[in-house]
Amino acid sequence: MSVTKSLPHDAAPLHVAGSARYVDDIPTPAETLHLAFGLSDIAFGEIEAMDLDPVRNAPGVIAVMTALDLPGDNDVSPSAHDEPLLSDGTVHYVGQPIFMVIADSHLAARKAARLANVDFTTRPAILSIDQALAANSCFEEPLEFLKGEPEKAIKAAPHRVKGQIEIGGQEHFYLEGQVALALPQEGGDMLVHSSTQHPSEIQHKVAGALGLSFNAVRVEIRRMGGGFGGKESQGNALAVACAIAAQKTGFPCKMRYDRDDDMIITGKRHEFRIEYQAGFDAEGRILGVTFTHYARCGWAQDLSLPVADRAMLHADNAYNLPAARIVSHRLKTNTVSNTAYRGFGGPQGAVGIERVLDHIAHELMADPLEIRMANYYQSFRAKAGETTPYHQEIQDSVIREISTELVKSSDYQARRSAIAEWNAKNPILKKGIALTPVKFGISFTLTFLNQAGALVHIYSDGSVHLNHGGTEMGQGLFTKVAQVAADAFALPIEAIKITATDTGKVPNTSATAASSGTDLNGMAVKAACDQLRNRLILFLKTTHNVKASDISFEDGQVIVAGKAFTFAEIAGEAYRNRISLSANGFYATPDIEWDRLKGRGRPFYYFSYGAAVTEVVIDTLTGENRILRTDILHDVGRSLNPALDIGQIEGGYVQGAGWLTTEELVWDDKGRLTTHAPSTYKIPACSDRPETFNVSLWKRGLNKEKTVYRSKAVGEPPFVLGVSAFMALSDAVRACGDGTIYPALNGPATAEAVLFAVQAQRGENDGV
Ligand code: MTE
Ligand code: MOS
Repeated sequence: MSVTKSLPHDAAPLHVAGSARYVDDIPTPAETLHLAFGLSDIAFGEIEAMDLDPVRNAPGVIAVMTALDLPGDNDVSPSAHDEPLLSDGTVHYVGQPIFMVIADSHLAARKAARLANVDFTTRPAILSIDQALAANSCFEEPLEFLKGEPEKAIKAAPHRVKGQIEIGGQEHFYLEGQVALALPQEGGDMLVHSSTQHPSEIQHKVAGALGLSFNAVRVEIRRMGGGFGGKESQGNALAVACAIAAQKTGFPCKMRYDRDDDMIITGKRHEFRIEYQAGFDAEGRILGVTFTHYARCGWAQDLSLPVADRAMLHADNAYNLPAARIVSHRLKTNTVSNTAYRGFGGPQGAVGIERVLDHIAHELMADPLEIRMANYYQSFRAKAGETTPYHQEIQDSVIREISTELVKSSDYQARRSAIAEWNAKNPILKKGIALTPVKFGISFTLTFLNQAGALVHIYSDGSVHLNHGGTEMGQGLFTKVAQVAADAFALPIEAIKITATDTGKVPNTSATAASSGTDLNGMAVKAACDQLRNRLILFLKTTHNVKASDISFEDGQVIVAGKAFTFAEIAGEAYRNRISLSANGFYATPDIEWDRLKGRGRPFYYFSYGAAVTEVVIDTLTGENRILRTDILHDVGRSLNPALDIGQIEGGYVQGAGWLTTEELVWDDKGRLTTHAPSTYKIPACSDRPETFNVSLWKRGLNKEKTVYRSKAVGEPPFVLGVSAFMALSDAVRACGDGTIYPALNGPATAEAVLFAVQAQRGENDGV
């Protein structure tokens, strides 16, 4: 068996040796041309005149193209056709591509792109949530989910809290930036290598731009150096630009953003403001709650509607809300078009309710853990019939079990007392601790996307060639799926050749997203392998005149009525008897349906659960802080690969903690991103990981639904556990005063923000 084993990532040796091939490493023909975009330097206005002669005359420049020169659709939007590749005359944000340069080298293209003289008439830009609200600038009417009569419940409740939290965005900071390479083929066809989570969409966008049908465009991606949602749609522009330039010139064309351009041009996690009101009883149990979400979507729609939906769908996180109203505003602003980012809005929604519980604990002067426990969904064993604010019944909650175990294994109670003692004695350094949970819904909320295909060949030497619609971005999808294939034939994992994702092999795929890569593609691969296996069994039954029960696959061998053959022997024999050794697999998630406008249905096939305890220390003189220790217990069902799952949990947590602590995006009043490089934008480094980091998979985990080997998705859910670092900071700040002022931190709680909050506790400022 290789499923359930901690096999290393299939490309680990290549990663560490530096020989894993990314798009930029693909050897290119000598005549390859290079592209760069010329960017808008204003946030909103019209292009009055563009003098591109200095660009055209710059060394190495072959051609310059504007919107007027495009042969087909000027559209790279994944949704609403509102995102031109090159400005159509109006510019909507600082960094919007307005023309493209084709040159004989990467550097020549980049240098030339800066030489344009562009005259704009500027219009007043809408940059902030407040400005968007004042101008009623939004993509659709506010969406609302309603359960019960929350306002009535709040009014009747013995206690109430009310407040708001600002939550910043986040740069993806994938190590490999956006990149594409287009190679013209005979007869006008196009081959595109793109660092993308969504090869089929690249295929569709390129076809639209070139005026080709889908079958004339093939897109290939072996691996990304990270995507994190930032390569669901943000690669479209580069791939389309390269394909257009390749069609125009007849030469291969390549484009790669440098880091600053990548940060300025591409969308990020959505900033949110969340207003809340809650009514609760003396034990802190929520009786009614209302949330109003304001999502800063940026200038184009991109994936903002489903992102804002998923924030609403996670407004309950792991808590039973007897009455709730969730209203969501999708605001259009003259900033980058925000996009998917690990959790897809879910983390923002969860922060809202975690803030409410932290606030309630403050009001009742209770340990926030008790308040959380009091509000958790009941265990699935209790058969409580509780529903989410969107009326899906919760049938699989294990959050109480997980939290109870984690409280014990992390020694929470003793450490909380020790921290109180420490804080009483130490005036300068203050510590804080918090446990926060996650319940994350698994499935695309656009229900039809929950499908996948696979293509598996057995060659006549017994080696297996594996392909499916998912993409590899470091998460280990290819390894997990290969484990599934290996087990179908009882072969060692080395016998399975993992191959690049290719729209020519498996068509009509969904993005590798929503954490469902393994659930969907693992099942599709299993379906293909099962067909092949059944074909071999049928063949052996007749040729060897035995019963199916006399045939078994064991340790790389096929046992037929007690006689052992190598898998290669059987494959060769089947081939010579003209048995097809190639199969397509297909899978579609059952039992889900969702009406987003009504806010009702079963959008999620199941939920993934986990909890984290984080301990922090803050320096009250500077606001600087560190995570001292983190303990995580997470449910991945029956793990396909514990090592990879733990890696996802560690990485997700650290990325989530970075979002809410050090990663701060700053735009100036002209709409320019001032934090567009690692010098000014601080992602967690190795040295920022918790000094003690205990991550465990929940041993009793088993998916109640019939997923692949009863595993659960793991890619995004642990990101939400980073919230525990934020809440631990809140706890530490609270310890700085007499306990009467609620810290009400905004995200990210940077050192600066923590310092202000500490001063506010001590009455030295008003906290802003
Ligand atoms: N892990 C690594 N190493 N790199 C990534 O880019 N992306 C995350 C998560 N884990 C990512 C990652 C996101 S946003 C998603 S949706 C899932 O992986 C996608 O892969 P999966 O569906 O196979 O889990
Ligand atoms: Mo992940 S944000 O669904 O790519």
